[in-house]
Amino acid sequence: MARGTSGASERRGDGSMGDGSMRSFWQELLDLAQRGASGELRARTAQHFADSRPAWPRPRAAEPYGRQLLHRGPAGEVMLAGWALGGRSAPHDHGSAAGFVLVLEGQFSESNYLFDGRELQCSARRDLGVLDFTSAQAGAIHDLHAISCGLTLHLYTPGIVAMRVYDVERRATLLVTGDGGAWIPRGGAGVREAVAWAPVAAPC
Ligand SMILES: [Fe+2]
Repeated sequence: MARGTSGASERRGDGSMGDGSMRSFWQELLDLAQRGASGELRARTAQHFADSRPAWPRPRAAEPYGRQLLHRGPAGEVMLAGWALGGRSAPHDHGSAAGFVLVLEGQFSESNYLFDGRELQCSARRDLGVLDFTSAQAGAIHDLHAISCGLTLHLYTPGIVAMRVYDVERRATLLVTGDGGAWIPRGGAGVREAVAWAPVAAPC
């Protein structure tokens, strides 16, 4: 991040940022995301990660990305995701939170969906490269597909309590706790509710 722009964000003598400064920094990013100030968000984030390269969260088996929670506070949460080549999240929303994603490394494809209770229909698709920014308002459904290995920064305002994950194979919508990721939980872990989709209407 830009040094000297905020007293709360100053670095210590060893170059690292104190806990209070880091909290302030993440809160600033959440505020920028909420205000749609994507240019400043991009610049501050790029500078921060150029100065302190993060450990890459490794995905566990059968999961599209590894997660590292960086911050959780009253304004929301910040999470770093590390993607393997070809990793793809399940279509999901962010519950009552708005979600923002900034690509730090790699190439991604994002798909947006509409759901009518019977079918999930792709409504838009776009490619995302380094420092591209995308957002999803509360209730909006999307997924991300890693075209290469990659690293993404996710900001949620407020923090996610529960979210819907769409299981296309089993034709069910799962309400899962926000501690999991955007994938179908193995063994149903964290699933609070599963709602079967209505049957597809037969053609006349
Ligand atoms: Fe998402």
